[in-house]
Amino acid sequence: MTIDAHILRALRAADAPAVSGAELSRQLGISRAAIWARIEELRSLGYEIEASPHQGYRLRTMPDVLHADDLLSLVAPRQVVGRDIRVFEKTGSTNDVVDKLARDGVPEGVVVFAETQTRGRGRLGRSWCSPARRGLWFSVLLRPNLRPESATQLTVAAATAVARALRGFARVDPQIKWPNDILIQGRKAAGILTDLSAELDHIKHVVLGIGINVNLGATDLPPELRRVATSLRLATGRSHRRADLAAGVLRELDADYARIRQQRFPDIAAEWAAQCSTLGQTVRIDIGGRRVHGRAESLDDTGALLLRTTHGHLERIMGGDVILES
Ligand code: BTN
Repeated sequence: MTIDAHILRALRAADAPAVSGAELSRQLGISRAAIWARIEELRSLGYEIEASPHQGYRLRTMPDVLHADDLLSLVAPRQVVGRDIRVFEKTGSTNDVVDKLARDGVPEGVVVFAETQTRGRGRLGRSWCSPARRGLWFSVLLRPNLRPESATQLTVAAATAVARALRGFARVDPQIKWPNDILIQGRKAAGILTDLSAELDHIKHVVLGIGINVNLGATDLPPELRRVATSLRLATGRSHRRADLAAGVLRELDADYARIRQQRFPDIAAEWAAQCSTLGQTVRIDIGGRRVHGRAESLDDTGALLLRTTHGHLERIMGGDVILES
């Protein structure tokens, strides 16, 4: 953990409203003057830190900016996801940044956030609207020991982790629309884009791109999306501190990735199914140029959707655009 992450973690600890410079200097093994210099740097980033000669440092308010050290301190302890966190002010697409890191040999678990994306990508070649400081736009690098056909497990795990984090953080009741849209009050609030790099029989790496509409107002959404999309703020009527939600999602994703490594995907699938608004529905699915109709019955053990077609066959669907017909 970096020095700033350690300082923020100590200041935030509930049982320590103020922390003395001497205590921080002892814990970190650096001089009190060096602690003071780091505090000044954090203040310049917008952290309001009070200093009293008798009690020490007290964290009064935190800015709604994404700061890698702050996120590292909020996410710890974790096993894989979030052991390296990087924040950019602006990128093309965070999925592309992480894909480049993967090809450069960076270990799994790195997470890249951008305050805004100029070329945010959605599924099926769509673009993803990523206004500055209004949402969470980030990508996670994983190197799972899975066959390519099981990559859907990671998307299902990500959707489950995002839904669980949103429920715990903002007391909303998210639903999952297969394969990976997170809906709040029936409108899309988050989406997941999985980019896969694989050989015939094994995955080289996976980039999980997650976009969460946190504090967007109605006019931040493109007009054509206003009837079908929402944000956490629009759904709850208040703004949310993005760093806390980001840390919650990374912790949940770390837990789900551990379950996948322990071959406990069926547990995730059961949780996913319990929140999935698609199962049991009559749907139309557009897969490239093909269209199938039927009833969404269940998920199989790779995360694919099992569709009972109108002709009575059970068809295994790996991806596509689902439209409810009833
Ligand atoms: C969808 O179509 O539902 C998937 C949207 C995924 C958006 C996220 S934002 C962070 C990451 N970078 C991208 O370019 N896309 C994903």
